[in-house]
Amino acid sequence: MSDDRLIVALDVPNVVHGLDLVQRIGDAASFYKIGLGMLTGGGLALANELKGELGKRVFLDLKLFDIGATIEAAARGIARYDLDFLTVHGDPQVVRAACEGKAGTDLKILAVTVLTSLDRADLDANLIKPGDIHDITLERAARALEAGADGVIASPQEAAMIRALPQARGRLIVTPGVRPAGAALGDQKRIATPHQAVADGADHIVVGRPIWQADDPAAAARAVIAELPAR
Ligand code: C5P
Repeated sequence: MSDDRLIVALDVPNVVHGLDLVQRIGDAASFYKIGLGMLTGGGLALANELKGELGKRVFLDLKLFDIGATIEAAARGIARYDLDFLTVHGDPQVVRAACEGKAGTDLKILAVTVLTSLDRADLDANLIKPGDIHDITLERAARALEAGADGVIASPQEAAMIRALPQARGRLIVTPGVRPAGAALGDQKRIATPHQAVADGADHIVVGRPIWQADDPAAAARAVIAELPAR
């Protein structure tokens, strides 16, 4: 079994490409993230197949946000698929509703704090209170965890400060924006290496393009895992 601290983001358009990639990666990775980009391309069916047929772990990255009753129903429905992680926005009422919906199952609810694509000007446009974006991220993480989230999504730059929160004890930190030494950054700006992200407190790292765009995705996944600190 491969090291499940690595989650490979399957950011390909459909189930056919997704399955092909998973087969090429083989036993070099055991945890996959399926997001909104593949939802209309059979993403849920692929999630089911990865989990049920291929024995992989699955992170469904849907970043849900809605009224409590709808979030609760969505989380309850997704929990029936026996997947591993589901993302919702970190607003406490959303987190509470998602936790209600998945109660009694093994599905973990991960909260998104502040999207890393947003800067202070975007927060102003969204009428989010004044203040440093890192402080707001930290405060949202604390509130989401207090509301019952099993963990948070954080940029590697925020992992250490979130790990230091008393509310984060025993909870998960999952970090995208991870680049192996020497890999292309793509549109990621605030990045860290796999080793640094885990050393700073991440339980799982999410890596997409450096693996799925590689000529040999299995070798790329193994190289990322080789960079992780010893367990
Ligand atoms: O290709 P790359 O390694 O940049 O992919 C990272 C994955 O993590 C993508 O699926 C992206 O949507 C997701 N993600 C991210 N930054 C966030 C939240 C999610 O890069 N803050």
